[in-house]
Amino acid sequence: MKKEERIKELRELIEKYSYYYYTLNESLISDVEFDKLLKELEDLEKVNPQYSMFDSPTMQVGSSLKNTKFSKVTHKEKMLSLSNSYNIGEIEDFIKRVDKLLENRKKPSYVLEVKLDGLSISVTYKDGKLVQGVTRGDGVIGEDVTENILQIQSIPKFLKEKIDIEVRGEIVLPISKFQKINEKRLANGEEIFANPRNAASGTLRQLDPEIVKERGLDCYFYFVVGGEKYGIKTHREAFDFIEKIGLKTTGIDEVLTSVEEIDKRIEYWKDAREKLDYETDGMVLKVNEIEYWEVLGNTTKSPRWAIAYKFPAKQVSTKLLGITWQVGRTGKITPVAELEEVEVSGSRVKRASLHNFDEIVRKDIKIGDKVFIEKAAEIIPQVVKSIKELRTGEEQEVLAPTTCPICGTTLEKEEGLVDLKCPNPSCPAKVQGRFEYFVSRDGMNIIGLGQKIVERFLELGYLNDVTDIYRLSEHREEMEGLEKMGKKSVENLLNSIEESKQREYSKVLYSLGIPEVGKFMANLLADESGNIDRLLEMTRDELLMINGVGEKVADSIINFFASEENLEIIEKLKGFGLNFSGEKQSKVEKNVFEGKTFLVTGKLTKFTREGIKEEIEKFGGKNLSAVSKNLDYLIVGEKAGSKLKKAQEIGTIKIITEDEFFNIVSEKE
Ligand code: IVH
Repeated sequence: MKKEERIKELRELIEKYSYYYYTLNESLISDVEFDKLLKELEDLEKVNPQYSMFDSPTMQVGSSLKNTKFSKVTHKEKMLSLSNSYNIGEIEDFIKRVDKLLENRKKPSYVLEVKLDGLSISVTYKDGKLVQGVTRGDGVIGEDVTENILQIQSIPKFLKEKIDIEVRGEIVLPISKFQKINEKRLANGEEIFANPRNAASGTLRQLDPEIVKERGLDCYFYFVVGGEKYGIKTHREAFDFIEKIGLKTTGIDEVLTSVEEIDKRIEYWKDAREKLDYETDGMVLKVNEIEYWEVLGNTTKSPRWAIAYKFPAKQVSTKLLGITWQVGRTGKITPVAELEEVEVSGSRVKRASLHNFDEIVRKDIKIGDKVFIEKAAEIIPQVVKSIKELRTGEEQEVLAPTTCPICGTTLEKEEGLVDLKCPNPSCPAKVQGRFEYFVSRDGMNIIGLGQKIVERFLELGYLNDVTDIYRLSEHREEMEGLEKMGKKSVENLLNSIEESKQREYSKVLYSLGIPEVGKFMANLLADESGNIDRLLEMTRDELLMINGVGEKVADSIINFFASEENLEIIEKLKGFGLNFSGEKQSKVEKNVFEGKTFLVTGKLTKFTREGIKEEIEKFGGKNLSAVSKNLDYLIVGEKAGSKLKKAQEIGTIKIITEDEFFNIVSEKE
């Protein structure tokens, strides 16, 4: 592509993303990606000055002025933006640049503060009375939102001192308020806000000040225009001054002098910011001595005396290259998104979970789409959504597989359930999965039987089902002769197998791999039954009597024990001396949901469907499959539909959000 064309393309892209971000309150890409495009354009314009234009996005501050409903006001002093940095090396460069520009003057000190993720605002007081509030707009011209500003409690209508002053800060929506607003919107069937920044921005641009009042926006100030007039000599003093006249600051304004200190404090705030009731997307470092600000000056967009340090984005966009269908130990088919590699919260990611085919349909995800991914609970990456605005028309529909990708058997879907399953009991993927589960840490904890070794032993015929693990000693010599095995590792493996016979009954029960019976449920069943024979005798009703066992679990247990093959395995394992009985251990004390019934509806973000049901049962609750008068709690995720409506009609059902549920159970863990 010719340079001129690329410049044009970049300008159009950047303008499009800015329009979505500033006017429609929607992010189509992460800040890092946006900055990359801007940097590419800047570099191209630098070496090709003939194409440089003063209305290029490289020369302007991002703006919300398009389609504004508010009257426009020219700022007396331009409202600048900040240049961004993403690592401590860039901060070091910034400090070197400052030192160089300050020449032989005394070295400056720095103030480190939080970068609030909201909207900047400039508020003017005359004789101590609030007269005007203006958004940043394009930095030169902003929108007059005075009527709305008057509704924000933390912006007083009168200062403590009768002075003329213009102060600047950030309007945010507290996270606690944001959650409440979304819960309400959810209950009313309205679309929820994507994040507090979008909600704050949408709220401030409301034409009805009553709505602004209701939503509870907040404002933190960090800048006094013409501070010297008020005797302010350092940025740190400005914070004290702001508070003295009756305005709010974040209280986070640390004076630091060395890169090491700055690095330490940034690292500290990376975690500590989670405790704040407002969102932050980074830190801001500013030269403390105001007399230096003039010496350092500004670029067209940002001051040279300040720099933002952006924290890694929680959500990052990337391209979906394809889907791989994985087969689990129970035969469940899980789509895995193959992605163009990106960094998310500090690690490289190229695969993410999509849970099941229905989710692909619900999220309208196509191959070739740009998608947002994030790490749920900071561990497993998930695909959040596809960015439909960026489609080119080349994207391809994802088709559900009809046959098992491993063994080719026609897949089945149980009625009413979303998962596709491979019904072939000897599907290699299932067999492999069963071994992995059996030897895992929560199960028999056998060390030395990794995936590759199991694969080889299956091929060599040493293993057919899990009971063969206890006959591996018969192959001792052959194993010792295998490539990469050796005497020592065979010895260790056989010792670990022998030792696993000591595992308690609950672990053995877990290892059997009964669907729906995870670690907690295995513990509970072991406690309640005392031994396997008693468990085998239990009827569905008896199982349901156990506090914590729901219908799904009970059915699964009955089903599992109805299989001759499974009973045979249990008999064999008994024969090898595994523990199939045990002392009653701890009673389940954490039965906060005892006797209560639950139903989950809508899209969940923190739990999987199975996961949340397990949590409910774990704490003594029961899962129901439909809304009825017998239902105590309806847990609602995003875009809950008819079930929520029905529950509201019945009136006696308590409606809680997934987050509220999460808070209850995480306190109990
Ligand atoms: S100082 C001339 N300090 O970040 C100084 N800005 O990316 C310019 N922001 O437009 C702003 N927290 O909306 C400053 N502690 C902070 C900030 C902050 C958030 C926002 C502000 C600004 C944007 C630039």
